Amino acid sequence: MQLFTGISELVVNDLDRLGELDVITDAALLVDDGRVVWSGPSAQADTAVQNHLGDATAHGVNDDDIVNGEVTSANELGGLETIDLGGKAVIPGFVDSHNHLIFAGDRSEEFAARMAGQKYSAGGIATTVAATRAATETELEANLVHLLDQARRQGTTTFEIKTGYGLTLEDEIQALDIINRHTDESTLIAAHVVPPEYKEDPEGYVDLVIDEIIPAAAGKAKWIDVFCETSAFTEDQTRRIIDAGKAAGMIPRLHANQLTEGGALQLGAELGCASVDHATFASDDDLKVLAEAGTVVTLLPSIEFSTRQPYPDARRYVDAGVALAIATDCNPGSGFSNSMPFAIAIGVRDMHFTVEQAVWAATAGGANALQRTDVGHLGVGARADLAVLDAPSCRHLAYRPGVQLVERVYSGGDLIADNRPSC
Ligand code: NIG
Ligand code: FE
Repeated sequence: MQLFTGISELVVNDLDRLGELDVITDAALLVDDGRVVWSGPSAQADTAVQNHLGDATAHGVNDDDIVNGEVTSANELGGLETIDLGGKAVIPGFVDSHNHLIFAGDRSEEFAARMAGQKYSAGGIATTVAATRAATETELEANLVHLLDQARRQGTTTFEIKTGYGLTLEDEIQALDIINRHTDESTLIAAHVVPPEYKEDPEGYVDLVIDEIIPAAAGKAKWIDVFCETSAFTEDQTRRIIDAGKAAGMIPRLHANQLTEGGALQLGAELGCASVDHATFASDDDLKVLAEAGTVVTLLPSIEFSTRQPYPDARRYVDAGVALAIATDCNPGSGFSNSMPFAIAIGVRDMHFTVEQAVWAATAGGANALQRTDVGHLGVGARADLAVLDAPSCRHLAYRPGVQLVERVYSGGDLIADNRPSC
């Protein structure tokens, strides 16, 4: 059991209150068995601990654990650790609901060319596919572990991870097996692009995805995703692939309207996607349909940053009543940042999220995009996934871009990253 005290600002969040942070100032947080059991003003912390111990005693905890009915400091009680944060903000761990972290190779040259004026077209995906196919499973997993560790140090505690750089039956299944060793949020996106060997026969590849890859991925992938775009898969192909994924027990999500306007957003709503991602181009009608369907729209600020595409204006999406999430979409091509604080800062500066909306979208919004109720907030019963900021307020995440503000990260109550200087 852990009691976090000295919290200058505790972001609790409510998954249903879109874009609104529930904040408690001068707060404390009580965690037991990896879950939040209480949060509130520090002045009420001792009472909360006693009440919780009372409940626990009623459920079989030894009375000897309670010392004079009072809680005074760490470890006086069986297993109670008091962690005094001395005036720091605490937020729910980030939920990064869109990632492509299984790959090999480097496309920094492509990025440099883009910064020198070349347009992003997704054509570089083939470069990563070749490097990924050439890599061993051990190499792919080591790269993933490294990227996950970096992201955890930036406060991310929940990751969705996609396949999509293998594009053969064996390589896609291998990617899923790796992903499943590191997260429950595994996504099959064999329909990322048509691989080079099917260049002249895209329908043949769609058949391979539907007839072989999806059946083999059943039970291994929670999500089915398609890159629905003129340079990738048509709306008709997308519909067939998503339907096959659903029939195999997967829940749909889409890459939609990243590079061009088109019907992909509305198709996502119609197909029951949990989230449509990118949505760089969205008409008023698209937004209306998405709001009505309750489809989450996941905006990916780092991608517009790294492709020099126009930033969508989050105010339009908010005004239309759309539920928003922010994710990194970390991948070696369109944007190689796995930092949620960076995505928040760009989202605020260039997409016109308010700071509160951006922090909510990167936590509760991501949870909604993954249909999770146990993460993205710190209400009673939530997983104790949290980030301690080296700042008095979560506003600093956008106010101080590029500064390492994530000081400590807990997952299920366990300290998983500590960025405090060791010397
Ligand atoms: O989400 N749009 C498709 N997939 C990735 C890009 C992948 C790449 O360029 O390697 C994305 O942006
Ligand atoms: Fe993506």
